[in-house]
Amino acid sequence: MRIRIHWFALCLLAFMLVSHFSPLEAAPLRDSADRRGIYIGAAVTMSPFRNESIYTETLRREFNMLVAENAFKWDAMRPSRTGFNFTDTDALVAFAEANNMQVRGHTLVWHSQLPGWLTGGNFTRDEVIAILREHISMVVGRYRGRILAWDVVNEAIDDGNGQLRTSSFWYQRIGPDYIGMAFQFAREADPAAILYYNDYSAEGLGTKSDAVYNLVSNLVNQGVPIDGVGWQMHQINPFRIQQAHRTNAQRLAALGLEISITEMDVRISLPTSAQELQEQALAYRDVTEFCLAQSNCKAIVTWGFTDKYSWIPGFFNGFGDALLFDVNYQPKPAYFAIQSVLEATLQTPPVPTGLSAAPGNAQVQLSWNASSGAASYNVKRSTANGGPYTTIASVAGTSFTNTSLTNGTTYFYVVSAVNANGESANSSQVNATPVAANFTLSANPTSLIISRGSSGTSNITVTRIGGFTAGLTFSASGLPPGVTASFTPPSTTGSSSTLTLSASSTATLGPASATVSASGGGLSRSTSINLSVNEPGGSTGGVNLTPVINASGPWFNEEALRLSNTAPLTALSVTIVIQRTAGISFNGQYNTVGGLILQSNSSTSTTITYQFNLASGQALWPNTNWIFAAQRAAQERFTQLPEIHGPSATRRVELHIVRQVISKDVRCWMLDDGKRV
Ligand code: XIL
Repeated sequence: MRIRIHWFALCLLAFMLVSHFSPLEAAPLRDSADRRGIYIGAAVTMSPFRNESIYTETLRREFNMLVAENAFKWDAMRPSRTGFNFTDTDALVAFAEANNMQVRGHTLVWHSQLPGWLTGGNFTRDEVIAILREHISMVVGRYRGRILAWDVVNEAIDDGNGQLRTSSFWYQRIGPDYIGMAFQFAREADPAAILYYNDYSAEGLGTKSDAVYNLVSNLVNQGVPIDGVGWQMHQINPFRIQQAHRTNAQRLAALGLEISITEMDVRISLPTSAQELQEQALAYRDVTEFCLAQSNCKAIVTWGFTDKYSWIPGFFNGFGDALLFDVNYQPKPAYFAIQSVLEATLQTPPVPTGLSAAPGNAQVQLSWNASSGAASYNVKRSTANGGPYTTIASVAGTSFTNTSLTNGTTYFYVVSAVNANGESANSSQVNATPVAANFTLSANPTSLIISRGSSGTSNITVTRIGGFTAGLTFSASGLPPGVTASFTPPSTTGSSSTLTLSASSTATLGPASATVSASGGGLSRSTSINLSVNEPGGSTGGVNLTPVINASGPWFNEEALRLSNTAPLTALSVTIVIQRTAGISFNGQYNTVGGLILQSNSSTSTTITYQFNLASGQALWPNTNWIFAAQRAAQERFTQLPEIHGPSATRRVELHIVRQVISKDVRCWMLDDGKRV
């Protein structure tokens, strides 16, 4: 006996698993809708609800909300003034509760589907108001706490002109006040129910949508208890969501109103093609994406769910196939489109870029680029390169100052971006080492040559470190007699000053080493400048260039220029052209070697040009010799090339030296026997 019960339980479990997942592999719509926090619903037709098990199975599997297609309408539940028929509505609400579904009540006040006893009853205005109040309190009261939202008033705006629908029974018998009254009566009957105004062709922007907006905004302003606007969304394929829909949703949100898609279908002109079904899927996809992105959008309800039972063919001649399942309850592309949007990976924001860290005194200032969709950023720190990091702050903006740090310690930082879906990966790492408040000083140029009776300038740059802000005063020392210094500005809270050194007509000639100092905030820093005072008149002394043959032989050859100057040089360009004599084939390597200018090159070209330049601020002081040499080495190859030993085999080296007003052009060349000609 015990064993038989055991087997029965296993079989039951297996059946439940199979029936739950069949025939679809991915999650039913209601499961992912639950996770995304919206309702997915369908209108229910009574006949298949009563008679077709696959109808109710599909309904309970896929949807977490239902609405009656007709059962709550006056003609269905009010056979007479005193009579109420709740058979169908009770069954629908019980089914919803048994299957953990929400119910939308549709609809309390509508010009259509009204019973003859009401429209033909010749009631006075007061009697119609009383009947309306009685109906709403009876119906809403009966399902108090069990129906989430009511379409209190349906389709009160006329098409085209944006006026109230004056042909409506309710308008004609009560006047425009019937709308506010209906909402008041509904609130009285169920204070917790969400009360909607519902209409069609008012989803985007236009005359009718403006009229709906004006109507509901007046209701809100008058204190009428309205909570939402239903967008029926009866569309013709192809249909796509536009910016107008978002704008409309946002202006309703600004009134404090929620929205729901209440009766969606997308009708196709028959016969349907596969391509039209794909297009139709885009409409459903768009609406689902729209509703997920719009925080005041609460539900997507379709007007039926199987093409087997849809009002479309009966009301729109030649159209059909407007819903999510085909006539055999097989899911269509539209179904899968909604499913994939609902199941799309919840996106975290992109990783922040552009993180930078600036050290200060016991602090580091961080800043980074905004990540789209981020609600906040986690700032993380480590004292080890590469982490592990500790989150030290969560900030809404894109900068953060990390204080109370230890000067001299290097800190490593990353940031991540956070939104409701979670956190991005960490940004790339930056580091910074906070330092005590401090500054450095530098001069450009560091060499100045001035003539008696004239002056020269150098830019003095202050680099402030660690938040150093003190004012600084400049001074100069080590100046030769007759040379005076001035600074513009003489003191600064900024980052630079210009030093001007002026030599009198009797200033002491020759080189000197000057020191520039800046003091302030208890600190003093200095930098040096090489100074030379020359005779006036623009003469800067002579430059002599002497050709030399340093070496000549089968293994190594060097031809050179010796440069000697009698005054400091601050601008010098030496161009050396080395050219092999035509007809000589030689493939050894040439080298050129500069003196203190510190450049050298090598090449095997037929003609080679090298240039040696004095760098800005560099000076060649007088009475020193510099050699600019062209060398030929690679002795093995030399010995293998006998033709260059012939009497006409000459190599020529050209040296061209330019210095300000002095220009010298010296050429020397050498026969292969080493004699200069
Ligand atoms: C339709 C039903 O689907 C039909 O079965 C019925 O014959 C007429 O009404 N806007 C509404 C819905 O608010 O109540 C309508 O339902 C479709 C248009």
